[in-house]
Amino acid sequence: MSIAEKFVTMEYGPAPEDPKEAQAWLEHHGRRFDLFIGGTWRAPVAGEYFDTIDPSNGEKLASIAQGGAADVDAAVRAARAASPKWHALTPHARARYLYALARLVQKHSRLLAVLETMDNGKPIRESRDIDIPLVARHFYYHAGWAQLLDQEFPEYEPCGVVGQIIPWNFPLLMLAWKIAPALATGNTVVLKPAEYTPLTALVFAGLCQEAELPAGVVNIVTGDGSTGEALVKHPDVDKIAFTGSTEVGRAIRSATAVSHKRLSLELGGKSPFIVFEDADLDSTVEGLVDGIWFNQGQVCCAGSRLLMQESIAETLMSKIRDRMSSLRMGPPLDKAIDIGAIVARVQLDRIERMVAQGVADGAICWQPQHALPARGFYYPPTLLSNVHPTSIVAQQEIFGPVLAAMTFRTPKEAVELANNTVYGLASCVWSESINVALHVAAQIRAGVVWVNCTNMFDAACGFGGYRESGYGREGGREGLLEYMEPAWFKHAPALPAAVASAQVEIPGPTDDRSETSTPAIDRTVKLYIGGKQARPDSGYSMEVRSPDGRLLGEAPLGNRKDIRNAVEAARKAESWAKATAHNRAQVLYYCAENLAQRGSEISRRLAAAVGEQQAAMEVELGIERIFSYAAWTDKFDGAVHNPPFRNIAIAMNEPIGTVGVICPADAPLLGFLSMVLPLITAGNTVIAVPSEKYPLIAADLYQLFDTSDLPGGAVNIVTGYASQLLKTLAEHDDVDAIWCYGDDTAVAAAKAMSIGNLKQVWTNEGRVIDWLNPKVAEGRWFLEHATQVKNICVPYGE
Ligand code: NAI
Repeated sequence: MSIAEKFVTMEYGPAPEDPKEAQAWLEHHGRRFDLFIGGTWRAPVAGEYFDTIDPSNGEKLASIAQGGAADVDAAVRAARAASPKWHALTPHARARYLYALARLVQKHSRLLAVLETMDNGKPIRESRDIDIPLVARHFYYHAGWAQLLDQEFPEYEPCGVVGQIIPWNFPLLMLAWKIAPALATGNTVVLKPAEYTPLTALVFAGLCQEAELPAGVVNIVTGDGSTGEALVKHPDVDKIAFTGSTEVGRAIRSATAVSHKRLSLELGGKSPFIVFEDADLDSTVEGLVDGIWFNQGQVCCAGSRLLMQESIAETLMSKIRDRMSSLRMGPPLDKAIDIGAIVARVQLDRIERMVAQGVADGAICWQPQHALPARGFYYPPTLLSNVHPTSIVAQQEIFGPVLAAMTFRTPKEAVELANNTVYGLASCVWSESINVALHVAAQIRAGVVWVNCTNMFDAACGFGGYRESGYGREGGREGLLEYMEPAWFKHAPALPAAVASAQVEIPGPTDDRSETSTPAIDRTVKLYIGGKQARPDSGYSMEVRSPDGRLLGEAPLGNRKDIRNAVEAARKAESWAKATAHNRAQVLYYCAENLAQRGSEISRRLAAAVGEQQAAMEVELGIERIFSYAAWTDKFDGAVHNPPFRNIAIAMNEPIGTVGVICPADAPLLGFLSMVLPLITAGNTVIAVPSEKYPLIAADLYQLFDTSDLPGGAVNIVTGYASQLLKTLAEHDDVDAIWCYGDDTAVAAAKAMSIGNLKQVWTNEGRVIDWLNPKVAEGRWFLEHATQVKNICVPYGE
C-alpha cells in the first residue's frame, strides 16, 4: 500500500514491540523459576511447578515454583533473620538501597514492560507508559521517606516481618506499592505474586541481587491461593498486606483475627463515574476510556458505573458508542492497541457469565463489531444500558471491559446512586462547575475522587478504600503508618485476661433485688440514646459494686434492641461531621468547662470504684484530654499534594462514620474520654459501652454532654456486658468501625465478628495503654485511626 493510499484509508499497520529481550531472559533461566528466599534461588520443597501463560495467545511462557507451607516458612525465617540488621541500618543506608532499586527499574524498564504485557495481556502502551514508570516513582518516593524517617517518625518502629499478597492486574506496580513502603520503614518482606503473573516479580528478585540488597530483606514465594494462605497463617508474620478480591479479603480477616498481625486490605470496587449536564462531553468520553477500558477493565478502581444526568444521556451514549468503535483490540504487544487480552480463561468466563446475567436482568448490551483475535482470551468493550441499580452488573465487580450505564436527575440523586454500593474505592465527577464537582466529591463515600480526570495515581497520594473496599492506604505519609507502630505500643505489656463477661448470668429484673443487699449509695443510671436518657429494652439492670463488695448502684443491661436504637440515633446525627471544626472545638471546650465544674462530685463517686487518688487523676487528666482534643479539632486537617501532573490532590481527613466503642474497664472516666474524644473530634458518631466495672460513670458523662451542646446522637451510651454488646455492634451492618479495648479474647472477638461488612477495627491488641500518661494516650495516633483519607484530585490549566 502506498503512503497516499494509507492517508485515505488511515489503516493502522502492525507496530509490535520487540519481545526478543524478554524471550532471551526467559531462555536464560531455562523457562523455569524457583523461589527467591534468603537472597538465593531455591527449588520448592515439594518439587511442584505450574505454568504461566501468555493470555494473548494461550502459549506457555515458563514453569513457576509452587511454594508450599515449608517454603513459606523458610522465607519467613529468612526475613526474620534479616530483620534486626535491616532495621538497624541508618535511614540513609536504606534510602540508598531504595534509590538503587528505582534506578534499576528504570534501567530495565523495557524488559519489565514487555514481560508484564506478555504475562498479563495488557497493552504495551500501558505497561511501558504507566505501570513501569509508576513503579520507579514509588521506589524514588519511598527512598525519600527512608531518608527522612527518623526525623519525621522518631517514636516509631517497623512492624517486623511483613507478608504481602498481590493480584495480577498490575503485577509489578502492586509489588512496588507493597515493597517500597515496607522497606523504607525498616521491615523485611515475604511477597507472594499472583499465580497468573509472577514473571516481573522474579525479575525484581534479580534486581534485588543486583542492588546487593542484604539477603532475606526481600523474599519472593510464588504459588497460588494456598501459598497465600500459608503466609497469612504463619505465626511469625507481623503484618499482612493484601490486594485482591473482597472474598479473599474476608478470609484473611478471619484467619488473622486470633493474632496480633496488622492488616491492610485493598479490595474490590464498583466505582461511579458521574457526568453532569455541563461537563465537557468529549473530555468525559476520553476519561471514560481510561476509566473502564484501561487494562481491559481489570482495575479495582475502574469507573464501571456510568451515572449520567438525564438531559445529556443520549448524546453521551452516542459519543461513547462512537469512541468504542474506534478502540483497537488485539495483540497487546502491538503499540497501537487499546485493548489487550483478559488475564486468564477463568476471568473471561466470569465476565461472560456476569454480562449474561445482567442482560437477563433487563440490561441492553452494546458492543462494537470488532473481530476478536482467533487465539487468546479477549472480551470486547461493552456498554450496558437500561441497567437497574440493583442488577448484578450495577452491584458486583465484573473486572472486565464492561460499563453499566444509568441516569440521574439531580445532584442529590447522583450522590445517592453513587453511594448505593457496598464498596468505596474511587469515583469520578465530571462537571465544568467546580462548585458542583467539589460539593458532590465531598459527599461520595470513596477513598479517591477524580474531578474531570481519571486514574491519576501517584506515590505521594495515598490510595485505598472506604467500606468493603478495604482499609489502610498505600502511598503518601498515611501509607507509611501501615508499616510502623509507635514504639511504646509495640512493647506495651499484655493486659491481664478478664473473666469473660458473657459467662456472667443475667440477673433478674431490678425489683427482685435482694432485700439484704447494702442499700445503693448512689442512683440508678439510664442509657443515653439520641441525646435522651432511655430505659433499657430488657428492663434488667446490673449491680455495680466497689472492689470491697459495697453496692454502688445499678446500671441498665443494654441489649440488641438498645444497640440498634443507638445506631439509628448515631446515623441520624451524622451532621456532626459537617459542623465546622471551630464549632466542634467549642462543644468540646464546653465539655471541659462542665467537667471542671462538677469535677469534685464526679471524683467522689468514682473514688468508690477506683480509689481516691486515681479518681482525682482521671478527672484532672480528663479535663486536660478534652482540652487536647478541642485543640486538635481544627488542627488535624489534611494536606495538598502536588503530584507530577497538572493536578492538585486535596487529601481530606474524613470521619469513618458510626463507630462502636468498647471502653476500658479500669479507667472508667479517662478511658472513656480517651477513646470517644478522638472519634468525635474527627466528626464520627459513637455508640460507647462504658467500663463494665463502673458503668455508673455513664450518668456523669451524659450530664456532661447534655449541658455542653453536643448534638443528640453524636455520642450514645449503652451500659451492659461488653462482650454481648460488642457482638451486636460488630455484626451491625450500619456500624462502620469498631474500637475495642480489652484482653486478647476481646480483641480477637472484635476482629472476627466484624467480618460481615469488613469494618475497620482498631484495638489495643490486648496490650496495656496507660491512660494516665498523655504522651501515649492521646493525639495523632488516635486521630489517624479515627479518620480515613479521601484524596480529591483536581486538574488545572486548559
Ligand atoms: P484473588 O483475591 O483470589 O487473588 C488475589 C491474590 O490472593 C492472589 O495472589 C491469590 O493467589 C491470593 N489468594 C487467593 N486465595 C487466598 C487465600 N485464601 N489466602 C491468601 N491469599 C490468597 O482474586 P482472583 O481470584 O484472582 O480474582 C477474582 C476476582 O477478584 C476478580 O474477578 C476481581 O473481581 C477481584 N480482584 C480484585 C482485585 C483488586 O485489585 N481489587 C485484584 C484481583 C482480583
